[in-house]
Amino acid sequence: MACSASTGAPVALRPVAPNELRAPSDFDHIEDRTDRSRALFVEASRVLSHPRCVNCHPNGDAPFQGMNLERHDPPAIRGPEGHGVVGMECTSCHQDRNQDLARVPGAPKWALAPIEMAWVGKTRAEVCAQLKDSKRNGGKTLQQIVEHSAHDELVAWGWAPGVGREPAPGTQKQFGALVAAWVESGAECPDEEAKR
Ligand code: HEC
Ligand code: HEC
Repeated sequence: MACSASTGAPVALRPVAPNELRAPSDFDHIEDRTDRSRALFVEASRVLSHPRCVNCHPNGDAPFQGMNLERHDPPAIRGPEGHGVVGMECTSCHQDRNQDLARVPGAPKWALAPIEMAWVGKTRAEVCAQLKDSKRNGGKTLQQIVEHSAHDELVAWGWAPGVGREPAPGTQKQFGALVAAWVESGAECPDEEAKR
């Protein structure tokens, strides 16, 4: 058995394709609750760090696009509330659904994530810490983070991003189940690793 007896030791996990997510049950063999919780967060991070998510959680004032943090073209900026600026609101181009002919992605309430929810340039441990911090997560409880992950419409777009865009791995339902299992196991954060 490749179970880890001590916190932070590597654990063997079922191999999955890049577009697949492991289920919470794939972590049942990790006996140490802290290790299990951390491993669940690392798995959920495969979604959190995906371009479909980070492009809209930038660490500056403009969204990114594509697979490699490309500049948003046409230029657009955050504005005072994350909805763009007068005359150049996000919703002047982005509608409540994808416009596949024009290649403009869309979902209800399209807007940039607030700067305190930036994920670009942060380690998994940093993203984990800010997700749990009600001062930086929009005043959400952990249960509300689970709900948001499982049901929010902007999050949902990550798996239905329109023609020519790679969806986030797995399904939103599986992602929601991983976040729920992470919270149930104590919402532990992984150790620091290299910045993205
Ligand atoms: C002038 C029109 C326009 C405005 C204003 C605009 N966008 Fe876009 N946006 C686009 C187009 C067109 C694309 C598709 C680019 C492509 O994939 O070729 C896009 C793509 C994106 C993507 C990339 C999706 C992905 O994962 O590849 C994000 C994120 C995004 N916009 C967010 C925003 C946000 C947030 C705002 C407001 C702050 C905004 N946009 C304002 C036209 C606009
Ligand atoms: C079009 C832009 C956009 C996209 C795409 C997007 N988000 Fe967000 N996200 C936001 C905005 C805006 C908020 C803040 C609104 C709120 O809290 O209700 C937010 C908040 C969140 C939060 C709340 C807590 C926090 O601290 O960040 C989570 C969790 C989250 N997003 C997950 C995701 C995941 C996972 C994906 C990809 C599958 C994703 N988002 C894609 C715009 C986006």
